[in-house]
Amino acid sequence: MYRIIKKEILNPTVIKMQVKAPLIAKKAEPGQFIILRVKEEGERIPLTIADFDRANGTVTIIFQVVGASTLQLAALEEGDAISDFVGPLGVPSHVEGLKKVAVIGGGVGSAIAYPIAKKLHYLGAEVHSVVGFRNKELVILEDEFKTVSDILAVMTDDGSYGTKGLVTDTLKQLIESGEKYDEVIAIGPLIMMKYVAALTKGYGIKTMVSMNPVMIDGTGMCGGCRLTVDGKTKFACVDGPDFDGHLVDFEEALARSTMYKQFERSAYDATCNLFKKEVR
Ligand code: FES
Repeated sequence: MYRIIKKEILNPTVIKMQVKAPLIAKKAEPGQFIILRVKEEGERIPLTIADFDRANGTVTIIFQVVGASTLQLAALEEGDAISDFVGPLGVPSHVEGLKKVAVIGGGVGSAIAYPIAKKLHYLGAEVHSVVGFRNKELVILEDEFKTVSDILAVMTDDGSYGTKGLVTDTLKQLIESGEKYDEVIAIGPLIMMKYVAALTKGYGIKTMVSMNPVMIDGTGMCGGCRLTVDGKTKFACVDGPDFDGHLVDFEEALARSTMYKQFERSAYDATCNLFKKEVR
């Protein structure tokens, strides 16, 4: 069992948890992920490691309540335990040697972008972070990004905070103003990563994206997380989750991402009703 040491509500649907998992904390690197099960018979949830503390033996996860399993996870409190917590899985993000990088985060994807920005900053790179959210209420990790970024732009779709517009608007401005990036790292909704990659392709800037498809075993056995990169089949769990954004087949990934929406909705509704009954 893995104890929840700290729980923090970052916005109405995004929650941060620090989980005691010393063996994972010892080996974790930015870009890697864990798979957890809230209860023994529960669904497996893959979550990218948002931070880790080797000295205290904790791993931080940040997740959005999007379905039944994340709703169950969100219901846990400090002191409660998670049944299974496995990792670190996946290939760490390659950030060594980069001198100047634009880190782009979209929504809860910013939670995955943050440890990468932090590591780049630690390694001495110049970090320009551009993070986008639907509105002010959904903005997360602004202070954390500030401490590791040479430039930070917070964008909102509706202009209720920061600059109104899309992350690609500001990224384009930065590139057009003469900023020369070794690499752009984009993490967020598929559609955002698709448009970031399309933008940077035109400027010939290498762009890495973090893919987060449905995962089951997390070890390359089930094929659930497959995607096409440069015409070849890859598995996000063992070959990624980071891939060259200019080579990812985003159309296929977008189509696959909607396959389980209806099923997920029904499970979510059933879980909501369950919680309502328990509360009564
Ligand atoms: Fe099964 Fe990746 S999760 S192959």
